[in-house]
Amino acid sequence: MSNLATRKGTFRPLMLLIAAALVIGAAGSAGAAGIPQIVHARQIHFKTLGKTAKSLRDQIWRSHPNWNVVANDANQIERLASALPSWFPAGSGKGHGIRTRASATIWSQPQQFARAARRLFNRAKDLNQAAAGRNLRALRLRIRALGQACASCHRRFRAHSSWW
Ligand code: HEC
Repeated sequence: MSNLATRKGTFRPLMLLIAAALVIGAAGSAGAAGIPQIVHARQIHFKTLGKTAKSLRDQIWRSHPNWNVVANDANQIERLASALPSWFPAGSGKGHGIRTRASATIWSQPQQFARAARRLFNRAKDLNQAAAGRNLRALRLRIRALGQACASCHRRFRAHSSWW
């Protein structure tokens, strides 16, 4: 009798565990249905990155930059650069009926892609440091280095066509 009670005692948590696993599984497939949203959000992030880099460039080629704008832009660029790898979850490439220029090589060469993202992040950090120090000469050099990091990733990992 007491033996049966113990068995019942272990059975219930096990059922709960299985139920929890099913719920997590369902959440996972809901995530898969969200690929168009993931791609859309990624493209918005890149647009913001592009606009912010342009805004910063416009400031630092002035003789008297607005240092508040410079600081905000440089911070935002660093923040976006650090988040960039999370915009590319596995399975968010072409083939879902949504326009994207994310090349399949992002997922087939993950180390190279991670390195390209890392390069951007390092250059964004250098840029942000120059902004914090209000060092205009360094800023002008480092925004160029940042632009090279954008271009080298685009050359390798951004497809020419956005169609699947
Ligand atoms: C590590 C790789 C990588 C780096 C670094 C990178 N990009 Fe991109 N970028 C991509 C990929 C991949 C896409 C295509 C995304 C898509 O279509 O789903 C893209 C798309 C874009 C787009 C188009 C967004 C749209 O659909 O309207 C802009 C603008 C852009 N990037 C700007 C930048 C700028 C500016 C930088 C540097 C400050 C940068 N990117 C750095 C990989 C990168």
